[in-house]
Amino acid sequence: EEHQSHNLLLSGKRVLVSAGPTREKIDPVRFFTNRSTGKMGFAIAHVAAEMGAEVTLVTGPTEQKVKNNRITRVDIETAEEMYQRMHEFFSESDIVIKAAAVADYRPKTVYSQKMKKQPGEWNMEMERTKDILKSLGERKTNQFLVGFAAETNTPLEYGLNKLEKKNLDAIVINNVAEEGAGFGADTNIVTYVNRFQEKEELSIASKTEIARKLFILIDRDLRADN
Ligand code: CTP
Ligand code: CA
Repeated sequence: EEHQSHNLLLSGKRVLVSAGPTREKIDPVRFFTNRSTGKMGFAIAHVAAEMGAEVTLVTGPTEQKVKNNRITRVDIETAEEMYQRMHEFFSESDIVIKAAAVADYRPKTVYSQKMKKQPGEWNMEMERTKDILKSLGERKTNQFLVGFAAETNTPLEYGLNKLEKKNLDAIVINNVAEEGAGFGADTNIVTYVNRFQEKEELSIASKTEIARKLFILIDRDLRADN
C-alpha cells in the first residue's frame, strides 16, 4: 500500500500546526471572523501524528476534534492569541505549517458592554492584526516553514509573492473559488511550491490525502536541504 512506506516518516520530528479561523471581538456578544472550518489544519495535524511526529495544534474556534494523543491542542480565539502561542512553540519545532485563516483586521475598539442600536448608520473602524507567518519567517533559524495562500484570482502569482515576502520554505496555494476546494469542503485542490519554485499540483483529494502528499513533499525538501 502506498502510504505504508511513508509510515513514521516524521518520527522524531516536532510539528507545529495552526488551524481554523480567528475570532475578533466587537462587544461581549459579537465578533468578526471568516468561513474557515479547521478541516485542513486538523487533517495536517492528524497525518503528522500518524507519521510519528509530536504535534502541537494551535486552533481557533472549530467543531473539529483531536483523535490522536500525540497531538497537543491549544485553543485560541484572536489573532493576537494565535501570534503569542505560535511564537511560544516555534523555537522547539522542526516543521511549522500555518493553515489557519487569520483575520487581517480587527475592530479598533472592543466595547465592554453590548452595543445598542442607534438610528442611522454605524461605521466600525478596523485595524490590522499582526502577520503571524511573516513574523515567524523573520525569526526562522532551522524550522521548515510552510504557509497557505487562499486565493480566488491569479492564485499562482499571489502565492509566489507570499512565499517570498514571508521568507517561507514552501507555500500551499489553495484556489478557494474552485469546486471541491477551500473553506468547509472535505476535499481540496492545491499547488505546493517550494523556495526553488518547484511546483507540484495535487489534484482533488480528501484533505487527509492532501495532507499525506504534502508531508511527502516536505520530507523530500527537508532531505534536499540537509
Ligand atoms: N497569515 C498570518 N497572519 C495574518 C494573516 C495571514 O499568519 N495576520 C498567514 C496565514 O495563516 C496563511 C498565510 O499567512 O498561512 C497567507 O494568508 P492569506 O490570507 O492567504 O494572505 P495574506 O498575507 O493575509 O494576504 P491577503 O489576505 O491580502 O491575500
Ligand atoms: Ca489574509
